[in-house]
Order: sequence, then C-alpha cells, then structure tokens
Amino acid sequence: MKVLVVGSGGREHALVWKIAQSPLVDKIYCAPGNPGIARHAECVDIAVADLDKLTSFAQEEAIDLTVVGPEDPLSRGIVDQFNAAGLKVFGPTAAAAELEASKVFAKRFMAKYQLPTATYAEFSDASAAESYVREHGAPIVIKADGLAAGKGVTVAHDVDTAVRSIRAAMVEKVFGVAGTRIVVEEFLEGEEASVLAFADGKTILPMEVSQDHKPVNDGDLGPNTGGMGAYSPAPVVTKPLFDEVVNTVLRPCVDGMAREGRPYTGCLYAGLMITEKGPRVVEFNCRFGDPETQVVLPRMKSDLVPFLIACCDGALDRLKLEWLPAACVSVVIASGGYPGNYPKGKVITGIESAQRDGDVVVFHAGTRRQGEALVTNGGRVLNVTARGSDIPAAIQRAYAAVSKIHFEGNHYRTDIGRRALTHLERRCAAKTP
Ligand code: AMP
Ligand code: GLY
Repeated sequence: MKVLVVGSGGREHALVWKIAQSPLVDKIYCAPGNPGIARHAECVDIAVADLDKLTSFAQEEAIDLTVVGPEDPLSRGIVDQFNAAGLKVFGPTAAAAELEASKVFAKRFMAKYQLPTATYAEFSDASAAESYVREHGAPIVIKADGLAAGKGVTVAHDVDTAVRSIRAAMVEKVFGVAGTRIVVEEFLEGEEASVLAFADGKTILPMEVSQDHKPVNDGDLGPNTGGMGAYSPAPVVTKPLFDEVVNTVLRPCVDGMAREGRPYTGCLYAGLMITEKGPRVVEFNCRFGDPETQVVLPRMKSDLVPFLIACCDGALDRLKLEWLPAACVSVVIASGGYPGNYPKGKVITGIESAQRDGDVVVFHAGTRRQGEALVTNGGRVLNVTARGSDIPAAIQRAYAAVSKIHFEGNHYRTDIGRRALTHLERRCAAKTP
C-alpha cells in the first residue's frame, strides 16, 4: 500500500520511520517532509496548510492511507475534505479536533461529562476576567481559547502577570482571534505526563505513558518551549493511575464525543497533571504529541499501520498492542537562542557517527539540505533518541549520541529523564529493608 504522511518535524520523522518498518507498506510520501524523512519517504513539496493540493495529490497517486501530524490542518478540516473525496485518512474531523482547537469547547465538554480537570471560568470580556483573577488571586492559569502555536497559555504566579496576559490576549490581540475568548483556570500542582491513545470513534487503545520537558533549561527553569526532550515509560504513572486515566479520562472522552455527534478518530492525546488528588486533564490534543511520539513509537513492538487503518475503519476492538521491554529517551538539540530568536543555516555534523549505535535514531525536526551539507532550519533541530533496557541505560546512550553531534551555538538539556530516576530511586528505597 501507499501511505502519505503530512508534516515536517520530528514527530512526522518518527511516524515515517515506524511506518517504513511495516511489511504492508510499499511506498511512503511525506508532505513536505525533511532531509531525515527523505531517507524513508519521497518528500513532496506541498505545504501542510494546502488542503486542496494535498487532496488532489492523494487522489492522483491513489494513496491508500494518509496520516496527519500537526493540529492546524486537522482543525481546518483536512479529514473532512479527504473523507468527502473517498480517501482514507488518520485523524479527527474538524468537529472532533475542537477538543484541542478550542479550550472553551474542551472545558465545557469536560464539565458536562465530569472528566477530572482544573476548575475554570470562561470570558469574552477583559475587565470581567481581570475582576475574577483579582478575586481568586495567584497562582492562576490564563489560556487563550484558540490555537496559538503552543504560546497561548500563561501560568501566572502573581496577579499582575495574569492581568497582563489577559490584556495581551483580549485587548492587544497578540494571538489574533484565538484570544477573543479566554479560559481562566485553577493552578494544578504535580508532575505532568502524556497518554496517547488510538481511537476509532468507539474504542480506545492507550499507548504507553511518556513525559515531555517543556522549559528550556535544566531543572525545568527558563521559558517554555515546544518540548526539549521526552522519555517513556513515565514511572510517575503507576499501573493503578494508568487504569484510572483510561477509565476516568480516555473512555469517557471518546464516549462523550460520540454522544456529542463528534465521534473521535485518530490519536487522542491527554496531557495530565498527576496531583495529590489524582490525575487531572491539563489539555487534550487531537494528534500525536511532539516530542512524545519520538519516544513512544520506538517502544512499540506492533506494526503501527494496522492500528492507523483500524482507527479509520472503526475496527480497533479487534487489535492488541504489544510493546518492547525497553525504555526510550529523546534529547532535543536546539539552535542557539531558541526559544527566542535564533539563526538558521548552521552546518550539522556527526549524525552518522551518533547512529552507529543501532539503538540510536536521530529524528530530524528542523533541518534542510544546502548543497551537500545538512544545515539547521528551525529552533528545535534534532531529536536524538535512544532505546535501552531501562531509563538509565537509555539516558546514557542518548547523551553518548548527543556528544557526537555538532553545530554552532547548539544547546540541549542535560537532565532529560532525570525525574524518572527520582521515582525509580524512591521505589527502590521503599523496597529496601
Ligand atoms: P497547555 O497548552 O494547555 O498544555 O498548557 C501548556 C503548559 O502549561 C502545560 O503543559 C502545563 O505545564 C501548564 N499548565 C496548563 N494548565 C495548567 C494548570 N491548570 N495548572 C498548572 N499548569 C498548567
Ligand atoms: N508535547 C506537547 C505537544 O505535543 O503539544
């Protein structure tokens, strides 16, 4: 069969890498792809936003399955458009993607179906929002309703910051229409974890838990980024907690969406805060996580493709997911200056040498070819990913690989996975008499 993957980052590289291992697949295209993806797929120069061109490409090439990476085309209805053209496509419809595209929709939905989440209020008037914040005090969380490229959330530790972010969204309109409405939310304390699940509208099949590292610097300091690394499994989510997430978050979510007449198909991403009172939903995303996918897929023993197809066909109940008994860690190497301004076009060396370890794979997130050279082309450049028998082994391998890769100004966190070690050490200590 022929598969088309839509997107150009590390998540899409991981998807293409995994799909390429399927005996069911003869040919993979990726639009627009990147130089890492080009090793497994034919890259076609169509932007993810160009839904018409993507549709006609899939029709002309008789693509059997399209897999959509990013949220933008999903919330703009790529799945609806492909379905109308009789094309099989993995992802939610625009109506179902509202779970990510509108925080107001997601919060109302969670309230209606009693999913555990932070208490909240929604506002379309800045002064009413300000009064609410002054009354409730800090810490408090301000969220622009719409998609804001991951920048629409402010965790405010004082009232002034909260008020400033309300004004930025609603008066200065820094997120455009995405900030016309906002959600003001209770601050949740705890550790975060991500659970991705396949969904076919009725059935869910959860994947193994992972954890992202959003702040740019070691020790979770500095401004938030798109994610500086990830690891899986995440020991903060014990087996009973995992079952609680499946039973109180994922299943009720898919059941509720079906009742709303917006059956959810594709990858459902629950961003969770593990609080003292149990798991709480911080956000839903309507797609695979980035960089979570880069650590979850290398641990998947099963062929991914039958699961993608079953999500489209409503046939997930017939499948069982299998996992490798391995841990996986991915370290993001970023451009100097990221998440602020950064230069592009820096020559990258050492990837081949890093990948000489057969358990290391370097997913490309922001690279391009310049003649013979591979150069940087984004803030997050590479996801250096390693498998190991356990988290410490995977960390050691990932950083050994990172040390072989160079480009001018590069930076990365040196503590990816450390939180997992803290849990494992605590468990060990509890067992030792
Ligand atoms: P979101 O885009 O909703 O995932 O928010 C981005 C980040 O903000 C999350 O990953 C959390 O680190 C943080 N965050 C969001 N909501 C809350 C909350 N209610 N309490 C504490 N932190 C939050
Ligand atoms: N890792 C966060 C996200 O994919 O949105």
